[in-house]
Amino acid sequence: METKILSAADVDVAAETLKNGGLVAIPTETVYGLAGDAMRGEIVRKIYEAKGRPSDNPLIVHIAKIEDVFRVSDDVPEAFFALAEKFMPGPLTVVVPKGKAVPYEVTGGGETVAVRMPSHPLARAVIERSGCLLAAPSANVSKHVSPTTAKHVYDDLNGKIPYILDGGECGVGIESTVVSVVADVPTVLRPGYITAEMLGEVLGEVKNFEGKVIKTAPAPGMKYKHYAPRCEAALAANASVAVRLYEVANGDGKNPVILAYGDNKKRYGSLNVIDLGDTPADAAHRIYAALREAEDKFGYIIVDKLPDGGLASSVMNRILKATANE
Ligand code: TXA
Ligand code: MG
Repeated sequence: METKILSAADVDVAAETLKNGGLVAIPTETVYGLAGDAMRGEIVRKIYEAKGRPSDNPLIVHIAKIEDVFRVSDDVPEAFFALAEKFMPGPLTVVVPKGKAVPYEVTGGGETVAVRMPSHPLARAVIERSGCLLAAPSANVSKHVSPTTAKHVYDDLNGKIPYILDGGECGVGIESTVVSVVADVPTVLRPGYITAEMLGEVLGEVKNFEGKVIKTAPAPGMKYKHYAPRCEAALAANASVAVRLYEVANGDGKNPVILAYGDNKKRYGSLNVIDLGDTPADAAHRIYAALREAEDKFGYIIVDKLPDGGLASSVMNRILKATANE
């Protein structure tokens, strides 16, 4: 196989190849990545093979929008969203608990998954147009220097992959910072362009790569809980989860209510419900009033997760803060 170098105009060829289970080296703002569909274990195995990489060294999953994190983790820590607000898209990778949908090939057999939203427009376009979340280690032969041009990738991987998408020289030039927010104290696992001090400004406390704890006065908005109702609140990933949470809370005598959105409402029958409407604009309009009504009349609030993107994401940001229970 002769490896072909694609120009930006051929981004659809790259996207189509990825959608069909092929591998493509893609540019990012840090270094070039060797990308394949992260959610299919057999494709991820091909990435390890092409690189000659040991399969217990986990890969980063690249996303195009923040809400994509819900596709790879069922239990996203609040710290992820705080970091995302400040540093995504950009050269930061955040390790979160692994969701059920993620194959163990990506995580090297572990229960955590690394997530990054690149800022390079071609990387974003490829993720969006392929519809895939992309597992992408640096596109070098294992142990070799990471590639920052299409030519570097060609020199390492010619004959092993069908395409390299040429996005010019990488701007940052070194790999992303990797920080785990799974541990009690967020910990830098790989230093990079986003420093431990910068992370500390957002998180308040972070362990740097040398293991030293850096404490900073947390940024406003992290220090004080905002948008919080006076009683316990939980986010439900889907209608079945909402019903389960409801039953548990009800069994505990907590007098629950569901802030229900869209089609989910049909599933709730005679349960206590406050209607968030059927469009993101409805939800934006109603969310604060619904939270106030809920805390006045009920003892436990369950909120439906809204669909991804646009205004719904902005409302979700408030819902996530309301349900953080810090
Ligand atoms: O800038 C980057 O991060 C580039 C571009 C292509 O996005 N990618 C990259 O991938 O450098 P890779 O595979 O060469 O390095 C990923 C690093 C490795 O050190 C790996 O051990 C770590 O991230 N990593 C991945 N998943 C992890 C996890 N679940 N827990 C801890 N470390 C993880
Ligand atoms: Mg690497």
